[in-house]
Amino acid sequence: MRTRLTEILKIEHPVMLAGMGGVSYHQVVAAVSEAGGFGCLGASTMGHEEMVGEIEKVRGLTDRPFGVDLLTAAPQDLQAKVQDIIDGGASVFVAGLGIPAEVVDQCHSQDVLVVNMCGKVSHAVRAVEAGCDVVVAQGTEAGGHTGQVATMALVPQVVDAVGAQVPVVAAGGLFDGRGLAAALSLGADGIWVGTRFIATPEARAVAGYKDRLLAGAEDATTVTRAYTGKTCRVIRNSYTDEFAASGGTPEPFPGQVLKSMGDGANHLGCDADEPGIDPDREFMPAGQGMGAIDELVPAADLVRQFVAEAEAVLDRVATLRG
Ligand SMILES: Cc1cc2nc3c(=O)[nH]c(=O)nc-3n(C[C@H](O)[C@H](O)[C@H](O)COP(=O)(O)O)c2cc1C
Repeated sequence: MRTRLTEILKIEHPVMLAGMGGVSYHQVVAAVSEAGGFGCLGASTMGHEEMVGEIEKVRGLTDRPFGVDLLTAAPQDLQAKVQDIIDGGASVFVAGLGIPAEVVDQCHSQDVLVVNMCGKVSHAVRAVEAGCDVVVAQGTEAGGHTGQVATMALVPQVVDAVGAQVPVVAAGGLFDGRGLAAALSLGADGIWVGTRFIATPEARAVAGYKDRLLAGAEDATTVTRAYTGKTCRVIRNSYTDEFAASGGTPEPFPGQVLKSMGDGANHLGCDADEPGIDPDREFMPAGQGMGAIDELVPAADLVRQFVAEAEAVLDRVATLRG
């Protein structure tokens, strides 16, 4: 399956692991890249030194391309962090929550591509104007920080707006090869998958997170500002219910992150052995695809399954033409 995305990223399969804060650490990143997809570290929950160490560990496990994701809105020293990403050997910098205009030239002059997460057409247009090389059109179904437009509506509109200039990657609610086939049919060049990869043995997750993901139905998520101050899709629990019932006025980002940490409800980035996790209050970002996920599957197998299933779907659809 060759697309503009596989060409530009120099990968085999048009399947990207989302750079999920708290989840996408070196084990799952290396497994996805090694399987021919594109692994992306979620560095938003990492300290500076931890990020550098995680990049080194990925490099130790695979020679294949990988990326690093940071939130544009969060770090004060974005240029220094991006330089460490480049020096560590990543081939892509992914920016969430804002357009990373100030680091585009820095990346390009050192042969690193810039990818931007977008939830609206206007955002994608501005990202391309700022020089970004790929846009991810992320629909509201997605786990984590999310907008209001659904993937099915967003992806073709972003393709129409910027697809002639840059590859467009679809995200939000995509959990198997049907989603990959659908994304390609909408004009996307590949997919960026988060929630499905949380349910892998390699993903990092606090105690109870993977169990809740496997157990929950498609309506088990809610969009809340309770954990970060920005709209974020998470597994609904008593902490999100209480926040909603209280009228739900958050501290502006990132103040609410500190508030939820102080409440003992936000350990994103901690390991499975972190003590004191209450799954009924804990920050567990997840997308609406979670109802379809009922077993842990090794990340490399998932990459291969996405492609094999998509090929079967596209073959089946082709037969409908008679
Ligand atoms: C646990 C979790 C953490 C996330 N953290 C980030 C992040 O730090 N930066 C970012 O750009 N996107 C983040 N996202 C959003 C993902 O990049 C991706 O767009 C989303 O997971 C796709 O939808 P899906 O979960 O339905 O596959 C996160 C998503 C999840 C589920």
